[in-house]
Amino acid sequence: MTCYKNASRLPDFYNLEVQKRQQVLLAKSTLDSEHISALSGDDGLTVENANHMIENVIGVHGLPMGIATNFIVNGNERLVPMVIEESSVVAGASLAAKLARAGGGFKAKSNSPEMIGQIQVLDLEDLDLAYHNLMENKQTILDSVIGIDPVISELGGGVKDMEIRLMEKSPIGPFIVVHLIYDTRDAMGANAVNTATEHLTPIIEEVTGGRVHLRILSNLADRRLASASVTIPLEELGFGNYSAEKVRDGIIEAWAFASVDPYRAATHNKGIMNGVDAVVIATGNDWRAIEAGAHAYAARSGSYTSLSKWYVDNHGSLCGEIEMPMAVGIVGGATGVHPSAKVVLELLEVRSSSELAEIIVSVGLAQNLAALRALSTEGIQRGHMGLHARQVAIAAGAEGSEVNMIASKMVLENDVRIKRALELRR
Ligand code: MEV
Repeated sequence: MTCYKNASRLPDFYNLEVQKRQQVLLAKSTLDSEHISALSGDDGLTVENANHMIENVIGVHGLPMGIATNFIVNGNERLVPMVIEESSVVAGASLAAKLARAGGGFKAKSNSPEMIGQIQVLDLEDLDLAYHNLMENKQTILDSVIGIDPVISELGGGVKDMEIRLMEKSPIGPFIVVHLIYDTRDAMGANAVNTATEHLTPIIEEVTGGRVHLRILSNLADRRLASASVTIPLEELGFGNYSAEKVRDGIIEAWAFASVDPYRAATHNKGIMNGVDAVVIATGNDWRAIEAGAHAYAARSGSYTSLSKWYVDNHGSLCGEIEMPMAVGIVGGATGVHPSAKVVLELLEVRSSSELAEIIVSVGLAQNLAALRALSTEGIQRGHMGLHARQVAIAAGAEGSEVNMIASKMVLENDVRIKRALELRR
């Protein structure tokens, strides 16, 4: 949270050259010039470092990083870095955060960072007896993995509890699943949890008389939820020919569609994940884990539905809420290795994984608001067209000021095609 007043309110940021934007960041945040150069390419992720991250490395892959402006989360100004290839996402989040500012910004909270490790126990003759024996020996089992990850233990985390689930019907017959509940503190925690579940194999087999098969973290991190809410005063919502009431009610009607139809809910939630993933990737976290958790959570009632909810309060304001699993870390994994992820965490000034989770769900809710506002009024193509036209101009070989000139002409003519861009270059 930056101490600079109105630090995330950067009205002209959009119009600046990239270097000027970097100067604004230097002035408005705790970043220094070394941080900026880690974002600018040359001092970013090197092939040598990448070679230590995965196998068969042949290079590194770049994606644009932009700053979403206007965010206030729990009263703190936040400049939010987003890594994404899709145009209009950063602009959409910034616009929605500006609307939210008028109502005090986003209020967010999160559970303690507890992950679930699953242990599948097969070949049991008597499920009830195995269950009983596991419960009898629960403390001994938990004690055997206390302190197994010294770093997490030092941070106050570690194994917390054990739960047993009976799978009475399955394609291979009945079996038991042991859930190990593990507080991973500021780490995402997959390694710690997987180590602990593997370590438990002999004791679980001894106690149950069964055979331990899979031992792995669950990405349905439904004990590690983060939620955000926002209130947009009615008067903020009107624009152009659209009255505030029409925009507000249109957003609620759009949400209602997603709440009852999985075909729409998938796209609605994809819009949320545009914002969520962009911050998850920027911070070096595992976005596949977040995606898996989000969609499994959205289907928890048995029918896939919206992760968010929109309604009107007594004052006629538009209110939004979101809740989803948010297993992100600020230590371990790529967060501590990737040079620009380290800069992003510095810029966000987060002090715990929970604080990061709270920002990310707020961005998800903002992104959802931006998408529903556009879809229920002028549609999304108008907003997309400007940046898309620039991409088409670049693909046609335009450079420097020529890019904007050709793009604006194509948008005005409503003819955004490579062929037209090539003609305009002649
Ligand atoms: C596009 O990336 C995201 C949207 O489709 C989300 C939505 O439909 O709510 C615009």
